[in-house]
Amino acid sequence: MTLRIVQLTDLHLPPDAAAPAWANLRRVLEHLGRHEATPDLLVLTGDLVARRRAASYARLREALGAYQGRLRVLPGNHDSRRMLLAEFGDLLERVGPAAAFELDCRGWRLLGLDSVRRPFVHGAFGRVQLAWFAARVREAGAPVLVFVHHPPIRVGTWWLDKDLPRDRRRLESAVRGSRVRAIVCGHVHQPHEGAFGGVPVLTSPSTAYQFAPRAWLPGKASWRPAYRVLELEPDGALRSRVVALA
Ligand SMILES: [Fe+2]
Ligand SMILES: [Fe+2]
Repeated sequence: MTLRIVQLTDLHLPPDAAAPAWANLRRVLEHLGRHEATPDLLVLTGDLVARRRAASYARLREALGAYQGRLRVLPGNHDSRRMLLAEFGDLLERVGPAAAFELDCRGWRLLGLDSVRRPFVHGAFGRVQLAWFAARVREAGAPVLVFVHHPPIRVGTWWLDKDLPRDRRRLESAVRGSRVRAIVCGHVHQPHEGAFGGVPVLTSPSTAYQFAPRAWLPGKASWRPAYRVLELEPDGALRSRVVALA
């Protein structure tokens, strides 16, 4: 049976619940409820808040009440790992200093990696997590889908490409020739497709605001919210599409 996953990324929720990023998240959740078959899993790939406030994480968990039991989250560079763990710790696994997840579901192994190394904006995984990841991939008797905030590839925008995870080469050696079918990312606020270690990489637009592809200067290009749908078959086939709201 098809495993249906919806990815939401880069929510950037500020403390003010009346702010546009909150309105966009509510629109996305309403749209999901009306237009998509109920997903088996909702995965949030980081930058959940715009400012690190415990109350914002609590409000987000409340907003996602309908997805109780069908939810996974990851940190992004804007997040507080401590606050994320305080609110969503039941959905995360401590792997050294990282907050990751592993979930075997309907013939697939889903792995979420923590690419955050505060106070830096750029990504990094760390040796402990990379060893954990390599073992989880090696032992997988099933196709693997990976979620992570920072893409391990360039998207063609210099001020985002500088954030590449510094230890991505070690990730690449775990991915190459493995059962990893795709790596699904956030951070860049735009859809992009590439490859890493012979595996497709999909980046996704934000639920809050988008950056224009190849923009010369940093800046928000649109406040049109979007999300990604992933459909995974037991034989390892994967389909994906981006849905942008009007
Ligand atoms: Fe972001
Ligand atoms: Fe980010």
